[in-house]
Amino acid sequence: MSDTIQTLLQENRHFSPSPEFVAQANASDVSIYESAAADPIGFWEGWAQRLDWFEPWHTVCDFQPPHAKWFLGGKLNAAFNCVDRHAAATPDRRAIVFEGEPGDTRTLTYAQLKDEVSQVANALKELGVTKGDRVSIYMPMIAELAIAMLACARIGAGHTVVFGGFSAESLQERTNDAKAKVIITADGGWRRGNVVPLLKIVEDALDLGCPQVEKVLVFERIGEKAGADLAVSRHSHLLESWTEVVGRQSNDCPCEVMDSEDLLFILYTSGSTGKPKGIVHTTGGYLTGTFATTKLVFDLKEDDLHFCTADCGWVTGHSYVVYGPLANGGTVLMYEGAPDTPDKDRFWKIIEKHKATILYTAPTAIRAFMKWGLEYPQRCDLSSLRLLGSVGEPINPEAWIWYQEHIGGGRCPVVDTWWQTETGAIMITALPGITPTKPGSATWPFPGIKISVVGEEGVGVTVAGPQSTHGVPGVGGYLVIEHPWPSMTRGIYNDPDRYEKTYWSKFPGKYFAGDGVKLDDEGYLWLLGRVDDIMLVAGHNISTMEVESALVSHPSVAEAAVIGKSHELKGQAISAFVILRGGFEPTDGLVDELKKHVAHKIGAIARPDDIFISAELPKTRSGKIMRRLLRDVAEGRALGDTTTLADPTVVSSLKTQYEDKES
Ligand code: WT7
Repeated sequence: MSDTIQTLLQENRHFSPSPEFVAQANASDVSIYESAAADPIGFWEGWAQRLDWFEPWHTVCDFQPPHAKWFLGGKLNAAFNCVDRHAAATPDRRAIVFEGEPGDTRTLTYAQLKDEVSQVANALKELGVTKGDRVSIYMPMIAELAIAMLACARIGAGHTVVFGGFSAESLQERTNDAKAKVIITADGGWRRGNVVPLLKIVEDALDLGCPQVEKVLVFERIGEKAGADLAVSRHSHLLESWTEVVGRQSNDCPCEVMDSEDLLFILYTSGSTGKPKGIVHTTGGYLTGTFATTKLVFDLKEDDLHFCTADCGWVTGHSYVVYGPLANGGTVLMYEGAPDTPDKDRFWKIIEKHKATILYTAPTAIRAFMKWGLEYPQRCDLSSLRLLGSVGEPINPEAWIWYQEHIGGGRCPVVDTWWQTETGAIMITALPGITPTKPGSATWPFPGIKISVVGEEGVGVTVAGPQSTHGVPGVGGYLVIEHPWPSMTRGIYNDPDRYEKTYWSKFPGKYFAGDGVKLDDEGYLWLLGRVDDIMLVAGHNISTMEVESALVSHPSVAEAAVIGKSHELKGQAISAFVILRGGFEPTDGLVDELKKHVAHKIGAIARPDDIFISAELPKTRSGKIMRRLLRDVAEGRALGDTTTLADPTVVSSLKTQYEDKES
């Protein structure tokens, strides 16, 4: 760590927003924390009232742990709130500004967005989709992805977006778990100058078996280069061209009247057992949470251009590319491709060209930018920016300060936002204009959210935030959320027991997030990473079990143990320790093949950085692999406590071999 940063941290220096920022901020009064804490239900009700409802609710919140319902009896439609009400009030305001990786751009006003969403909604109806059905979406990060999501919402079909980097198997598993009737895809997308052949991957998923899929709607983005032809495909009876089917629809499609608690979407996220969890979000609560947080955390206003770099395949894209900003009538920037294509200044060029005012990205990207060097941001005009956000993993103070200085020009507040797919919306963050920030801390819970730091057995509860009962500095614990909030997941699709077990059984009646956290003496929260078997690789959640299962599905692998090893850029990198079956030789060729195998099974994001072939793995007497020791080995640390090992010599010899191989 550099000296200046050391000094900053020792001084525990606060960054306060500039008076100019405070003067115009949506949230400028610190009393919001107090009033929300005194009456969280009333606080949330106030935000829900700013949405458009077809019928009012009779009860704000009903909490029967572990289940909560919000705005009971209320009727609304998410697409109406994100599109129609703005199309009526401000038809010519820009809703989406899209830039493709090749440099093509497209702008949609709210009036145009309403027409397109309605046409796609009518197309889905023609393909047989009705209220209560599910649709899976497997698309590149193009405007049509947001349009497809909103079209589902419009007709009351739940969407499940599967990230375009996932494999055919992952797509198949998610599509079938959600029992999606229709898949919406594109022939392909662009990534680092190459075509990602999405339609071909969909065809592979269909080959693996998606019995309930009746139709596949294909947006033609790439054409011939995508290598897929709807007419000659082995699945051509299922495939429908977007140009044709959407093209012939009317732009008039009434919004379905949805109950507040009706399904809006399912989004799959990694779980400790390896099987992805279908996280369920419903309409009224989710929209209220994303609406309120977008307004207060990003300070979103009419003339902002909000650039959230996350793909809509992740929850960040759902909440802060689509639902939150559009519910606010904001303008979002969607970019399809990689940050280093054609050069490492691509984000900065985009910001300069479109005059983006808000940038929301991940620490892993920020660390890559730092490594690439200042020449890239410095050759572009970033003066349009006025607010910066970070999400996905703990941001190290060095990256925080670099981001603030070199991207924010020292003038933009930085909000480090902690949340999860399950929480639907931001839970811990600074409020720009109000909360003095400290580099590396996500600061305080969002108003109306009560977070505690809890020791094992539930002892030592301390509450975070400005009303903090003050922690013991430096003492960590588990992050627990004390009472329900509107955008809380309503459960795991098809698996109610797992929902209860994962989030509500460690500390009964409280939501257990799976993260470690430290509270300082000013009530500030410092996130410490996951406490379970979930890795955070470049801000993406991947379970060790998922990668282990992929490895052992290869004929050469007898046993595998996977750990997240700390990595300069990615936060964590995947390291695998593998025992081979008899008859297989530990060659470099095999290691490469295993890496490819995992990428093929799950997707490129799960490809291990290194695979170490070993003769044995450290196990307890009951046969549990001690991953903690493998982490010590991979990170080159002295071995922790080995007394519970069945054979303590295993790990020391493993360490020697590993170090020999590394050097
Ligand atoms: C996990 C949730 C929510 C958007 C992206 C990830 C980690 C997320 C932060 C942050 C420290 C963070 C946590 C959390 N995480 N944001 N600002 N500081 N850690 O969603 O895939 O559901 O992952 O990401 O460990 O539990 P997700």
